[in-house]
Amino acid sequence: MSDDILAADSNENELAFEAAVRPANLEGFVGQQTVRKQLELVLESAKLRGTNADHILLVGPPGLGKTTLALIVSNETGHPIRLTSGPTIQHAGDLAAILSSLVPGEILFIDEIHRMSRAAEEMLYLAMEDYRVDVMVGKGVGANSIPLELAPFTLIGATTRSGMLPTPLRDRFGFTGHLEFYEAFELHEVVRRSAAHLGVKHDEDALGEISRRSRGTPRIANRLLRRVRDYALVHNHKIVDVDIAREALAIFEVDELGLDRIDIQFLELLTGRYSNKPVGLSTLAVALGEEAETIEAVVEPYLVRTGMIVRTPRGREATAAAYQHLGKHAGSHGAQTLLDL
Ligand SMILES: Nc1ncnc2c1ncn2[C@@H]1O[C@H](COP(=O)(O)OP(=O)(O)OP(=O)(O)O)[C@@H](O)[C@H]1O
Ligand SMILES: [Mg+2]
Repeated sequence: MSDDILAADSNENELAFEAAVRPANLEGFVGQQTVRKQLELVLESAKLRGTNADHILLVGPPGLGKTTLALIVSNETGHPIRLTSGPTIQHAGDLAAILSSLVPGEILFIDEIHRMSRAAEEMLYLAMEDYRVDVMVGKGVGANSIPLELAPFTLIGATTRSGMLPTPLRDRFGFTGHLEFYEAFELHEVVRRSAAHLGVKHDEDALGEISRRSRGTPRIANRLLRRVRDYALVHNHKIVDVDIAREALAIFEVDELGLDRIDIQFLELLTGRYSNKPVGLSTLAVALGEEAETIEAVVEPYLVRTGMIVRTPRGREATAAAYQHLGKHAGSHGAQTLLDL
């Protein structure tokens, strides 16, 4: 991904920063009113019934707060949480080992749950439904399946691609929370808190500029804030104002709408080489040198949201707004967005 603007943080400092600015409870979690209300209900009901909460699936593009919410559920309920991810659970045995070591009420968080192996997935069905796993002992004709009781636990699954989850798995979650992109005013609140944490002096317009360019995503808002901070530090500006924010963001190739290099390349393809015809995802992925999954989960949702592209069964098409944004003449080109219809 270009400049890692959209990727999860891997640098230790950045990870430590993410952890430090993560809201610890629902009250500190900005925005997402719908999911928050739903989650509050689910947790409150479990508390009243004196049992562990139903299994929870959190769906949404990267950086919107899925992991944060899982940690909040642990804080709010007082139950410990175990963090793992789909790609690291390749064998059913790995999952059996984790499941059988859970204490009553413990929360098991499986990130990227759509990337779990098939065998592990099937083991999870029974575990979610009956708090039981069948462990295979021995090989060949002597092989035996031994049922193993598990402590009641709450599974929280996170995925950027709910469409990739098999229906039997999706159906076993008692509640699915869909996280939406944030409004600029909500991100403003997120960066205000982070700026205080970083000790960055700023005016409100500078924070507004950063929030508007953050693709509706708190992780990106926090990251852009740190890059603006870097710029101000290096150029010895004591207070970050809107001009400094703009100069810094221009250097990192984040435009007024928050589109970065890969978004622009994507739009250039749709309005150039492939203008006026729908293009398939795999063709675009090859042309951009990116994985189709990244394009679908990370790049396209924001372009759809800003009305730059439409996704049709025949492929992706640029809208008139995309031509306009790139300063190109649309002529008869450009699919209509829903807003135009
Ligand atoms: N509602 C929110 N309020 C304040 N900060 C938030 C909120 N949501 C996310 N953040 C911040 O954004 C960063 C990324 O959030 P998080 O790691 O939870 O995203 P994610 O959905 O799990 O992403 P991924 O799909 O990449 O795992 C965290 O540092 C967190 O502090
Ligand atoms: Mg996460």
